[in-house]
Amino acid sequence: MADEPNKPAPPADAAAPAAPAKPPEPVDPAAAAAALAELEASFAAEGESAGAPSPSPAPAPAPAPAPAPAPAPAPAPAPSPSPSPEAKPAAKPAPKLEAAPKAPAPTKHPYVVEFNGVTKTYGSFTAIKNVTFKIEDHPKRGELVSILGPSGCGKSTVIRLIAGLSPQFPATSGQVLVDGKPVTGPGPDRGMVFQDYTSFDHRSVLDNVAFGLECRGVAKAERYDRARHWIHKVGLSVKKDADKYPHELSGGMRQRVAIARTLILEPRIILMDEPFGALDPPTRTRMQDNLIELWRESSPTIFFITHSIEEAVYFGDHILIFSSSPGTVLKEMRVPHADRPSLVMQRDPKFLETVWEIRDLIDKLESSSRAGD
Ligand SMILES: Nc1ncnc2c1ncn2[C@@H]1O[C@H](COP(=O)(O)OP(=O)(O)O)[C@@H](O)[C@H]1O
Ligand SMILES: [Mg+2]
Repeated sequence: MADEPNKPAPPADAAAPAAPAKPPEPVDPAAAAAALAELEASFAAEGESAGAPSPSPAPAPAPAPAPAPAPAPAPAPAPSPSPSPEAKPAAKPAPKLEAAPKAPAPTKHPYVVEFNGVTKTYGSFTAIKNVTFKIEDHPKRGELVSILGPSGCGKSTVIRLIAGLSPQFPATSGQVLVDGKPVTGPGPDRGMVFQDYTSFDHRSVLDNVAFGLECRGVAKAERYDRARHWIHKVGLSVKKDADKYPHELSGGMRQRVAIARTLILEPRIILMDEPFGALDPPTRTRMQDNLIELWRESSPTIFFITHSIEEAVYFGDHILIFSSSPGTVLKEMRVPHADRPSLVMQRDPKFLETVWEIRDLIDKLESSSRAGD
C-alpha cells in the first residue's frame, strides 16, 4: 500500500525505540493539542481534499524544555493524631480518629463552561449576540449539552469559541470561560469532532487514531496499543479495519475513526459539530447508542450540535435552543438523558411528546423573536 509521503515529521522521540531509562517525554501537550486542533480545523474548512493535508501540523516544537506539568504536590498528610502509647492505657478502646483540621478545599469552579454576554461580529455582521449560559461541573459526570437551532444561527461559532479556534475565536465581546478561566486558544482539555470525516488519507486507521498521541510524543508501541483499544471501542474491527485507509471505509466508519481520534486523547470536554449529520439513519442510531455508552464510561462534558430534535431529546440532559441569526439562547431545557437504546426510546410516547413540545416551542419562539417580542 501507499507509503506515507505526507506523513508529518514525527516528534523527535516518538519514533525512537522506547528506552526504558528515558520515559517518553511529551512535547508540550498544549502546543501539540493546538497543532492538532488547528489541523482539524483546516480539514473542516477545506473539506475532504485529495491527499492528506500537507500537514506538518508542526506538532513537535522541538523538544522544548517542556515543563512536564509537575504533578500537583500531594498535600502533606496531616499529622495523624497518634496518641503516644505510654499516655494511653492499652485497654482503652482506640479513640475515634478525629478528622485533621481541614485545609480549605481548593475552590473548584462550579461551571465547566460559561458564556457571559458573548457576541461575535464579522465586520458589520453579527453572528451571535449576547449569548449567556453555564454548564455545571458535576462530580464524575459531565453534562451532555445539545445545541439546536436553524442553520447559520451561530452553533458552530459557539463551540469553536469554546475550542479556541479562529476565526470564531476570540469573541468580539463577552467572556468565554472554561473551568472559570478565559479561553486563550486550543488545549488538550478540549477535543473537537467535525461533521466532515476528517482524516489523513495516507494514514491507516491505526495511524489516524494514534495521531494525537504521536503529537504528544507517546512511544509507538503504547500509542498503537491505545489506538487499537479505541478502534474497538467505537465499534470498528481491529483485525479487519486497523490497516485500512480512509478511502476504503464507509462514511460511518470514517466518522468512528474521527471520534476515536478525539477520544483517545481523553479530553474533558468534547465538542461535536453535527457529527452524525451525514450518516444514514441506521448508522446514525448505532452511533447515538455508541456515544451514550462512551459518555457513560468516561463522563466527559459533551457539546453536541444537531438539527435533529429527536437526537437532542435522546441525548437529553441539557438542551440549548438558539434563535436564528444573530444567534442567542432562546431557551434552556432539561430532559432526562438516554436510558435505553435510541430506537427503543424513540418509540416511547413520552419521548415523542417531548419532541413535539420542543418543536412547538421552537415554532413559537421563532415567530415571537421574528415579531420582535
Ligand atoms: N469567518 C466568517 N466570516 C464571516 N461570517 C462568518 C464566518 N464564520 C461564520 N460566519 C457567519 O456567521 C453565522 C453563524 O455561522 P455558524 O456559527 O457557522 O452557524 P451554524 O453553525 O449555526 O450554521 C453565519 O451567518 C455564517 O455565515
Ligand atoms: Mg455549523
